[in-house]
Amino acid sequence: MCGIVGYIGNKKASPILINGLLRLEYRGYDSAGIATMEENQIVVMKNKGRVNNLNQLAGINDLKGTLGIAHTRWATHGKPSNENSHPQTDNSNEFAVVHNGIIENYHELREFLKENGYYFVSQTDTEVIPNLIDYYYKKENNLLKAVSMTCKDLKGSFALEILSKYEPDKMIVTRKDSPLVIGKGNGENYIASDIPAILSYTKDFYFLDDNEIVELTNKDVKFYNLDLEPISKQIKVIDWGTSSAEKDGYDDFMLKEINEQPSAIRGTIGAKLDNGNIEFENLNFNKEYLESIKKIYIVACGTAMHAGLVAKTLFEKMCKIPTEVDIASEFRYREPLIDEKTLCIYISQSGETADTIAALKLAKQNNAKTIAISNVIGSSITREADYSIYTHAGPEIAVASTKAYTSQVVLLSVLGIYFAEILERVYNQEIDELKQEILNLPSKIEETLKCCKDIKKFANKVYKETDMFFLGRGTDYAVCLEGSLKLKEISYIHSEGYASGELKHGPIALIENGVTVISVITNSNLVDKTISNVQEVITRGAKVLAITSENLGDLGFDTVIKIPKTNKLISPILSVIPLQFLAYYISKEKGLDVDKPRNLAKSVTVE
Ligand code: M6R
Repeated sequence: MCGIVGYIGNKKASPILINGLLRLEYRGYDSAGIATMEENQIVVMKNKGRVNNLNQLAGINDLKGTLGIAHTRWATHGKPSNENSHPQTDNSNEFAVVHNGIIENYHELREFLKENGYYFVSQTDTEVIPNLIDYYYKKENNLLKAVSMTCKDLKGSFALEILSKYEPDKMIVTRKDSPLVIGKGNGENYIASDIPAILSYTKDFYFLDDNEIVELTNKDVKFYNLDLEPISKQIKVIDWGTSSAEKDGYDDFMLKEINEQPSAIRGTIGAKLDNGNIEFENLNFNKEYLESIKKIYIVACGTAMHAGLVAKTLFEKMCKIPTEVDIASEFRYREPLIDEKTLCIYISQSGETADTIAALKLAKQNNAKTIAISNVIGSSITREADYSIYTHAGPEIAVASTKAYTSQVVLLSVLGIYFAEILERVYNQEIDELKQEILNLPSKIEETLKCCKDIKKFANKVYKETDMFFLGRGTDYAVCLEGSLKLKEISYIHSEGYASGELKHGPIALIENGVTVISVITNSNLVDKTISNVQEVITRGAKVLAITSENLGDLGFDTVIKIPKTNKLISPILSVIPLQFLAYYISKEKGLDVDKPRNLAKSVTVE
């Protein structure tokens, strides 16, 4: 997805902008550009391809401006090309704009502008914005007013940075349904769509809400609503270490993030399980309310949805509340049955996923209480939800989510136990044992990480395959779906996760000599059942990698990875680790870009 960076201060802007864009590369993009203010004139440099190509353009080092905007574009309207890259300017190069999001009524606005003498050189939806600003500026002679009038005409989603040669000491930024943060420095200000882009410069952030417009100079940050009435905002301090957005000696962010899981999970557990009952700073549910809940919906996308699938079993077993897990893009359009007796939990690592946010708004309209689980303090979803709780896993940069998944499962588990304690529908001993197992997780994850060498060997045997199957039952099935997604995402190998019991109902037709099957076997009550399913594929010639906490004996597996035993309700937190390594090492064997897989973006801020 597109990325935005901006700077206004006393330093040369271009290196700061380029550095910020490089830090946003993980989001996925196909072109990049910057615009700086050079002696009251806007200079735009942009091109198709990587940020490093942009940084080599002739003249880029001569830019001296101390105010600039920058963008990485992920093509939506119009193919990746120099003309379609951002910044986009008006016909006279007096206004420059970078834009994340989609302008839904751009066609109508184009026609209006054409009727008023404007022409268009790109196929983008964005190009209407600088021209519309120009149109209003000619009437108002005031940039802030022109931007506010323009925003009122736009339908869709947008995060915008705007420069004008008429007010060369200023930058205007605004947002609607697309993230934007402002980093406050000393006599300088930074802007970004994502915190990691500017984390090395400041830890003091303002998080913009929808329809807020900000006028920035070196010293001032002034906030307004869409009608240009001043509003006040508080700074939030982000406690992520600077090195958390660096590779720290690892080859890739994904490998670093897999290995960070013990400390990430310690961060997630925090002090919540320290003594006696679980406390959540931001939650105050009482027994009466929880007893009134007839259904829990857990709604999310991709890996976050898979974390919800693990938690479903825990919520139903420990809280005795029917729990449904839904894909956000389906949930928002299928008229789900929601009322004040429904509790809706939304999971989003980035907190910016458009479908998940829309699904949350739907629950609020139907009077359900909403809880957001996110890794990013102040992210959009946390500002929409009634309650927000954080995974505190540190920034996740690799597109393939690893530590975010495990920290989400941990946080959901702690939340489920918190509800269970209040509801008193299961024995205390069951609750206490599960709490203890959660406390043991960081050291068990450390133990599990040792499987990397054996997984690397297995990856070396199978990386040329074109199809793989992941089989499991119970929570092992939930983790199979995640393992399969990880493999598809970064190794481009087709794979399917199946509930082992479904094998005979169709998928076994695909099993033939040499096919690779990954079998996850940790749910002790289901071991015999799973083993008999696995034997069926071994008999048909499958090459099987077993990931297990059980003593399986010699059953004809190709490779067995032994992981520590834990409660089956949380075993995916351990069993996913070999699956993460498998996807990682296969991708490396294939020589692919692990952190930035093709066609994918880290946060999906459009529908
Ligand atoms: O930021 P979110 O947690 O809302 O993102 C949801 C999915 O886009 C995300 O989990 C995606 O599936 C990952 N790339 C998986 O590795």
